[in-house]
Amino acid sequence: MSIIDKIQKVRLEFQSDLKSLSSKNDEIDQIRIKYLGRKGLVAKLFDQMGSIEKDKRPQMGQELNKLKIEISEQVDGVELLNKGTPKEEDIIDLTLPGDPLPVGSIHPISQLLNEIKAIFIRIGFSLFHSPEIDTEFYNFEALNIPKHHPARDMQDTFYITDEVLLRTHTSDTQIHFMETHDPPVRIIVPGRVYRNEDISVRSYCLFHQIEGLYVDHKVTFSDLKGTLDYFAHELFGNNVKTRFRPSYFPFTEPSAEMDVSCIFCRGNGCSICKNAGWLEILGCGMVDPEVFKAVKYDPEEWTGFAFGLGIERMAMLKYGIQDIRLFYNGDVRFLRQFK
Ligand code: DAH
Repeated sequence: MSIIDKIQKVRLEFQSDLKSLSSKNDEIDQIRIKYLGRKGLVAKLFDQMGSIEKDKRPQMGQELNKLKIEISEQVDGVELLNKGTPKEEDIIDLTLPGDPLPVGSIHPISQLLNEIKAIFIRIGFSLFHSPEIDTEFYNFEALNIPKHHPARDMQDTFYITDEVLLRTHTSDTQIHFMETHDPPVRIIVPGRVYRNEDISVRSYCLFHQIEGLYVDHKVTFSDLKGTLDYFAHELFGNNVKTRFRPSYFPFTEPSAEMDVSCIFCRGNGCSICKNAGWLEILGCGMVDPEVFKAVKYDPEEWTGFAFGLGIERMAMLKYGIQDIRLFYNGDVRFLRQFK
C-alpha cells in the first residue's frame, strides 16, 4: 500500500471513530492518543517517511501534516463542545466597567487653610513658618507676656522642660520673623498650636491658626479694618456684615475682636450664634511697641497690625459642625462629605 493510501486509510478510520463517538470526554481523549499520541497512527506514518523515494518526500510530508492538522482541529472542536455552555459564574464580561478605586479627599481643615491662604496671597502677603516646639521667650516674653502675667492663664500650656514648650499660638512666629527680617513685613503664618485643655465638643488639645503680621511706615487701624473686612467678605460672601469690638491681647494695643453677622440666620439670632446675630472670627490689633522693642524694630519709625484666627472654629462655623473632635478621629464618613 502506498503511503498516500495509508494516509487516506487513517483519515477514514478517524472519521468513523469520530462518528461512533458518544459525548463522553474520556473517549475523545482516547482518540487523541490513538491518532496524535507519541506512538499514535500519525506518528507511525511519519516514521515511514524514511522508506519512500526522496523526491516524493516533500509532497508526502505535506499530505501528512495536513492530516495531522485536520485531526487535531477536529479533536479540539469535539473537546470544546463536550465542555458545554460555561456556567454563568465562569463568564467574565470584559466590557463591564471596573470597580472604582477609592479616592481620598482633602481634609476640611486643609481645604479651609488653602482658601484663606489664597485670599491673603492675592493681596500681597507671603507665607512663613516656624517650629511648633518653641521657648517661653518666643511664645510669651517677647510678646509682652512676662512670667506671672495673668494672660498666661488664658492659654494652658504643654511644657516640655521649664523653658521649652509646645507653642500655644502662632503669634510666636511674629517674633521669629521680625528677628530675622527687616521691615516692611507682610506675612501670614498657618500652623498647628497646642493647648492643655480638657477635650470636649468645643476644645481639642491641638488646632490650627493663621497669624497675620503687617508692618510698614504709617500703618493705621483703618489699614487693619480694610484688610480684614476684605478677607471676611472674600471668605463668607459680600452679604455678611462685619464689626470690631474692643478687646485685650498683651501684644497689641489697641486690640479688637472681629465679628461677622451670623451666616446661618443672617443676623436674626439662632442657636449657633446664641441669639447674638454675630459670630466672633478673629483677634487683632496694632502691634504693641513693646513687641517691636523685643525684635529691635524702632517703634518710632514702624507701625503695624497683627491678627490671629482659629481654623477649626472657622470650619465649624462655615460647615455647621457641632463637634471639633470630628476633625481628628479620622472617620471617613465625615471626611468624604468634603470632596
Ligand atoms: N494669639 C491669639 C490667640 O491665640 C490670637 C491673636 C489675637 C493673634 C490678636 C494676634 C492678635 O496676632 O493681634 O488667642
